[in-house]
Amino acid sequence: MTINVLFVCLGNICRSPTAHGIFQKKVTDKGLDHHIKIDSAGTGDWHIGHAPDPRAQEAAKMRGYDLSSLRARLVTSQDFENYHYVIAMDQSNLKNLEAMKPSSFSGHLGLLLEFADSHVDEVPDPYQGGKAEFDYVLDLVENACDQLLLHIEGQLAE
Ligand code: 4NP
Repeated sequence: MTINVLFVCLGNICRSPTAHGIFQKKVTDKGLDHHIKIDSAGTGDWHIGHAPDPRAQEAAKMRGYDLSSLRARLVTSQDFENYHYVIAMDQSNLKNLEAMKPSSFSGHLGLLLEFADSHVDEVPDPYQGGKAEFDYVLDLVENACDQLLLHIEGQLAE
């Protein structure tokens, strides 16, 4: 059984590639690459084909995650055919995804921080911020990815 996970934000250059890289490393470290496939995408088209923002890459690198090979792409309605989990970073992303979601989709569409021990429900957009905002994204996303992986491991074991 393979479970496909898509992380979605606005630009696909800060938050969702951060989640992609963190979750990928956690999956690889647990030897689950054959069971969990990961990608990320954006609801906005400004950065298609671009590598993650250098600030996101640097903040992630400090914690051992390499985002350099990732490239931004747009989310499409086809993604709902291919992914079991479509995971939004904030309410605005979620609203856009809800509007695109085909009625046939039977997977999970929700917010990343549903899976976190967190008092906030959104990963805030760090694009206009500085190092502190990018580090805060990492704090939120690392915690949520741990919980998400435990959740999916439970599903794989069923
Ligand atoms: P992201 O951050 O959604 O976390 O990738 C943003 C990146 C770029 C823009 C907005 C948010 N932008 O407006 O270009």
